Amino acid sequence: MAARRRIFSGVQPTGVPHLGNYLGAISLWVAMQAEYEAVFCIADLHALTTPDTVNPAHLRTAVRDTAAILLASGVDPAHAILFVQSRVPAHAELAWLLGTVTPVGWLERMIQFKTRSAEGDSVGAGLLAYPVLQAADILLYRTDVVPVGEDQRQHIELTRDIARRFHGLFGEVFTLPEALYRSGGARIMGLDDPGTKMSKSAGRHRARHAIGLVDSPDSIRDVIMHAVTDGGREVRADDLSPGVANLVTIYQLLTSRSRGEVLAEFEGKGYAMLKASVAEAVISTLDPIQQRYRELSAEPEALDAILDSGAERARPLAGATLERVKRAMGLDAPPPPPGARLSAIA
Ligand code: TYM
Repeated sequence: MAARRRIFSGVQPTGVPHLGNYLGAISLWVAMQAEYEAVFCIADLHALTTPDTVNPAHLRTAVRDTAAILLASGVDPAHAILFVQSRVPAHAELAWLLGTVTPVGWLERMIQFKTRSAEGDSVGAGLLAYPVLQAADILLYRTDVVPVGEDQRQHIELTRDIARRFHGLFGEVFTLPEALYRSGGARIMGLDDPGTKMSKSAGRHRARHAIGLVDSPDSIRDVIMHAVTDGGREVRADDLSPGVANLVTIYQLLTSRSRGEVLAEFEGKGYAMLKASVAEAVISTLDPIQQRYRELSAEPEALDAILDSGAERARPLAGATLERVKRAMGLDAPPPPPGARLSAIA
């Protein structure tokens, strides 16, 4: 029987994931985990590059909360390996090795680096090296497919470029990964501004920007009923503004229906009706996830045990690739035989 293909993906523990994370990535992971060999990581080392999360107590809590949300959303340890990035040291080690073959110009061109360095006054080397660590995450598991939101496109392309460059220098070691996007939903936009994608960082500063996966029904209704649309009043399938199109997308993904069906349902109906239906669909999707999240959060030891076992399972997979990389680079000098003297000292 042919070996199952492997998927790998990650999420930063920088606050409770939002509806964009769920629709663009997490729900896709859940849908794929039985068919593929699945490995998912909570990228805490990446989160250290986000100034808001440089707070040890906050980071510890955020890692557990993220684990609880992923499990509550359906990530199943019986199918998938779920672990915390810093618990598998091969990630940091491979990131260093890949950094030695990655031109700095490639990293300076990354949109995330350009945006965040334009916003902040001090930029750590970690922010520049962020995509190299992400490449290490993916390449360590000989990943075939990376299910992600569309905003990660540049990172996956860079991962392939780094792998190819490594192969040119040291020979073939890695599998070249392909990105996989949720069709029609790889980029959920902010509800207060359909011109920008829904993001955790904007959600921290803008009250009606995002829907957090553990937000209350009242807050979800409030955000969606105030979602920015346009000057019109009714849905016109042949003339959807970005705000209305975003609501239609959310509804379509949550109800697993085609765009045509959803547009036919709302054609000529008022925006208020569309918004009310979207709000109820979000609330009923999140209700069981929130219940499960509360149960899991009440059992931190059980959560930690799942993460411990995930790291145990991830380590040998990552270690095998790291060994091959080190051998290819000449970092595998055997220890001197007993009694041998080093020539420099002799
Ligand atoms: P992060 O934590 O920002 O987001 C996690 C996942 O959610 C997707 N996503 C979205 N999808 C649709 N619409 C949106 N508005 C939206 N916002 C976020 C993201 O594309 C992502 O799939 N660098 C990564 C974490 C990471 C990773 C990895 C991902 C670390 N190592 C290796 C893949 C493979 C990040 O910051 O994701």
